[in-house]
Amino acid sequence: MSLVLDPAAQDLLFREARTANTFTDEPVTEEQVQAIYDLVKFGPTAFNQTPLRITLVRSAEARERLVKHLAEGNQAKTAAAPLVAILSADNEFHEELPQLLPHFPQAKDMFFAERPVRESAAALNAALQAAYFIIGVRAAGLAAGPMTGLDFEGLRKEFLDDDHTPLMVVNIGRPGEDAWFPRSPRLAYDEVVTTV
Ligand SMILES: Cc1cc2nc3c(=O)[nH]c(=O)nc-3n(C[C@H](O)[C@H](O)[C@H](O)COP(=O)(O)O)c2cc1C
Repeated sequence: MSLVLDPAAQDLLFREARTANTFTDEPVTEEQVQAIYDLVKFGPTAFNQTPLRITLVRSAEARERLVKHLAEGNQAKTAAAPLVAILSADNEFHEELPQLLPHFPQAKDMFFAERPVRESAAALNAALQAAYFIIGVRAAGLAAGPMTGLDFEGLRKEFLDDDHTPLMVVNIGRPGEDAWFPRSPRLAYDEVVTTV
C-alpha cells in the first residue's frame, strides 16, 4: 500500500530481478541500449554533472581484449554474454557543466576547477548512475551481471584514457540456464535504519 509503483514493476526491478551469470544467445540491440540510457539519464546527480560514460564491447576482438583483464571467475561468462558494457567516470565532466546546468554555469569554475575534487565527485555520481543503469537494464526485461573483479588499471589502459576511471563491467542479456546463485539474505530494515 505504501508503494505507488505497480507491483509487477516492483518485482521486475527488484524482488524477482537477479544478478545473471549465464545468458541466452539472444542479442541485445542498439535500440534496447538506447532505450535504457534514455530512461536512466534522468536519474539525479550532483549539479546534474552526469559523469557516467558507457563503452559497449561488441566486437569479438574487443571482447578478447576485455576478458584478459577480468578475474578468472568472471572470464567465461563475459566471453559468452550477448553484450558487455564498461562503465566509467569522466573526470573532465566539468567541460559539459555549462550545458548541463544552464541556470548556474559558473559552477564549472567555482566548484570543479581542481582535478582531485572532480575525481571524487565523478566517482560518487557515476556510481549512482551505474546503479540507475543496472535498474534500467532490468526495466528492459533483461538481466545485468555487474563485476568489479578485474584489473582496473589494465582495463583503463586498454579501453579508456587518463581522464576516465573505470567503475565496473556489466554483462547484459536474457538469463540463461542456471543463471544465478541462491538468493542471499539482505539486512532487515531495523539493522540498517536509525532515526534520530
Ligand atoms: C558493483 C558490483 C560488483 C560485483 N562484482 C562481481 C564480480 O566481480 N563477480 C561476480 O561474479 N559477481 C559480482 N557481483 C555480483 C554480486 O555478487 C551480486 O549482484 C549480489 O550478490 C546480489 O545478487 P542477486 O542480485 O542475485 O541477489 C557484483 C555486483 C556489483 C553490484
